[in-house]
Amino acid sequence: MILKMSNSEYLSKHLRIFPMSEPNPDYQYLAHSIYIGKTAIYKTPFFLDLNSAVNPHLVAVGMSGSGKTFFLKSLMIKENIINGSNVLIIDWSGEYTKAAKFVSGRVYRFGEKSGLDIIHLLCKKPEGINGLANLIGKLINADASEFKLIRFLLEPYKNKFNDNFSIRELINKIKKSEGGQLYYKLSMLDESGLFDGETRVSLYDFFKGFNDIDLSALNESVKLVLADTIFKSVMELMPALGMSNNVKNILVVDEAWKLINPMQNIGKLFRESRKYGFAIFIATQLIGDINNDIISNSAHIAIFKLRNQADYDIIRGVRLFSEYDISRMNGLHVGSCFMSVLTKNSRSKSFLISHIDGLQVEFFEIKGESMNYPINLQKFSEYLEGIGIARIEINKIMEHITESDKTMELEKIISMLLDFGLSRADILVSLRLFKIPDIEIVKAYNKLKKVHFNVL
Ligand SMILES: Nc1ncnc2c1ncn2[C@@H]1O[C@H](COP(=O)(O)OP(=O)(O)O)[C@@H](O)[C@H]1O
Ligand SMILES: [Mg+2]
Repeated sequence: MILKMSNSEYLSKHLRIFPMSEPNPDYQYLAHSIYIGKTAIYKTPFFLDLNSAVNPHLVAVGMSGSGKTFFLKSLMIKENIINGSNVLIIDWSGEYTKAAKFVSGRVYRFGEKSGLDIIHLLCKKPEGINGLANLIGKLINADASEFKLIRFLLEPYKNKFNDNFSIRELINKIKKSEGGQLYYKLSMLDESGLFDGETRVSLYDFFKGFNDIDLSALNESVKLVLADTIFKSVMELMPALGMSNNVKNILVVDEAWKLINPMQNIGKLFRESRKYGFAIFIATQLIGDINNDIISNSAHIAIFKLRNQADYDIIRGVRLFSEYDISRMNGLHVGSCFMSVLTKNSRSKSFLISHIDGLQVEFFEIKGESMNYPINLQKFSEYLEGIGIARIEINKIMEHITESDKTMELEKIISMLLDFGLSRADILVSLRLFKIPDIEIVKAYNKLKKVHFNVL
């Protein structure tokens, strides 16, 4: 007997079924999602939706220069613009100040008159006086008896320390009561200028808009104490800001490995934050920081280029990525990453993002006759591309700008644009778009004429 079978049936019996080599990203609300880049295999646009994951926290890990900071900057700027999330950055080395400028946020510094008095980092609560005693104690490395004395002398400031505390008054009291070593230590602290800042804020202000606490000017031990204080205060403040199922605030700690060790309670911080709609973004070079505490508390793990085999072994050990994923991690380069996301309605999924399409927040300055004009590098480069200038030529200009310390004379820009074949009218329109006044453009042309004349 001849068994008849349709062509499609025949085909389906002989087709081998392979699993998809890349999962499908799933999103609850695309409107709130942030575009990150395309996936490596199917080139699917990959979006992050912090609210559709089991928690909104994110950890980026990778060697220095692999693209963690670039990624975090782009992500938080987009979160701020698209979702209106408030962002607070504990900025270890001042690398986020430009990002803050880009979104008209605020940058706080210490140790100068226009800066912030560190007392504003404390949560204003009745027990706040203990916080102040702890802060001072840690900054001067006080021993138990010194701490006791400080705590005792601070008693009069109870409940109202934010407005009334003066370090000099405390020093004078110490001088009267004990003097000696403690007097000397506190005087040193006074000289640091940490209590001199005249900018007034309340801790709540840190969660309005985009705020960068720039610690870069301080020495490492002071940075640690302040970062620790900020963490504690934020945790105390959270309940007052109310519970929330959606992310409202983002706390960013880059180079977090410097903080994680002294901060024993990172797990608690992650769990508490989630309840109150706070997302925590952490970047670290130390792959060893990716311990179970972090993995079980952070739904987004981004692995950037790693240093060596030992680092890959650690990743293998935490069992977050498959062997296949780990084998593909060898191909990571600057600006690409492996992203594992634990969403509410699925198991953990991981995606290789071949290039993070971030935001350049770098500026350069066009030097005019009367002043310099700041120009966004990315916008400038996109504009040139838009008017038809070849990528290779644009790269030449970008290189030139970087080499000349991010300032360029207006006439130099004009002469390059002329070389690319732009007409005088086109150049005028372009420069006006970047808010260069006509008078500057005329002057630059005059200078150019002189140069040509001299050459002739
Ligand atoms: N996705 C990207 N697109 C364009 N440039 C990038 C990208 N990722 C990183 N870079 C550039 O590479 C350099 C190093 O990146 P960075 O984010 O500072 O690394 P890390 O924080 O890991 O040390 C920076 O100059 C940054 O602008
Ligand atoms: Mg970095």
